[in-house]
Amino acid sequence: MSLAPYPAARFRRLRATPSLRALHRETRLGVEDLIWPLFVRDGDNERDAVPSMPGVERLSIDLIVEAAREAALLGIPAICLFPYTDVSLKTEACEEAWNPHNLCNRAVRAIREAGIEIAVMTDVALDPYNANGHDGIVRAGIILNDESVAALVRMALAQAEAGADILGPSDMMDGRIGAIRAALEAEGHTHVTIMSYAAKYASAFYGPFRDAVGASGALTGDKKTYQMDPGNSDEAMRLIARDLSEGADMVMVKPGMPYLDICRRTKTEFGVPTYAYQVSGEYAMLRGAADHGWVDGTAVMMESLTAFKRAGCDGILTYFAPEAARLLNA
Ligand code: PBG
Repeated sequence: MSLAPYPAARFRRLRATPSLRALHRETRLGVEDLIWPLFVRDGDNERDAVPSMPGVERLSIDLIVEAAREAALLGIPAICLFPYTDVSLKTEACEEAWNPHNLCNRAVRAIREAGIEIAVMTDVALDPYNANGHDGIVRAGIILNDESVAALVRMALAQAEAGADILGPSDMMDGRIGAIRAALEAEGHTHVTIMSYAAKYASAFYGPFRDAVGASGALTGDKKTYQMDPGNSDEAMRLIARDLSEGADMVMVKPGMPYLDICRRTKTEFGVPTYAYQVSGEYAMLRGAADHGWVDGTAVMMESLTAFKRAGCDGILTYFAPEAARLLNA
């Protein structure tokens, strides 16, 4: 009797049971990988839905404090705050950005005063405060680099003063990391960390976010003179090298899912703390398809987050953070 030939390697052996699959899984997602972006609005006990991001709400400061408490209980290590700024406060000079009592800075202080053990990240970019919706100062239709950096430094210092642990410059002006780092050192904020939005692309996936912070109506033109071209990868490496040399502690790739190759390159080439932002449009796609019953929402959420880890990310900014954390803790 002749034996039937058998495959030299049976990869299916290790996939046969949940235990064997767990045993040889290369990548794990944990609650400690999650950073939860939150939208802050004015008022007291106020919440309102962001229509293009089902399940996401803008929260008044008292509710932001509750959300921070919930995040801490879930084991989420960091939250990130984005203010919805009233249009009356938006100017061409963006002065509200460095108002120590602006919505964002009041929210940071409220979380600090509540004594919640969680890292608080703030966004350093002028768009929520700019009458024209841009991340930098605009004059005669031109986005001015060095004037913008000066404004961003004031903004960053006000956030550090309020008690932010992580500053996230998302503006893409040249030289802002070095300028912010120098100012933090000079003012004694030596322990405030910088997560540079180093490889931030000019992406159509930010649409729902701009609705959420009320910037869509304001924005004139696009952000292509400062955000990256989606076709570029080597340039991302040069930006990361530059931001690290200027004093960034962590770097971010944004958007996330369409740019996992950039995440992998960053981790492999630099070996530094690497984060990805699963942005509003990515959330809206997954959530929208799930709400229509076209995909299994829970499954695509967990699969997408695991993919960031596999691509080399140390953490993920995601609007799914509390939902994913509840599942991971279950
Ligand atoms: C602002 C900023 C943006 C996002 C984070 N910070 C929008 C933009 O650059 O226009 C996008 C986040 C998201 O889409 O979830 N500079």
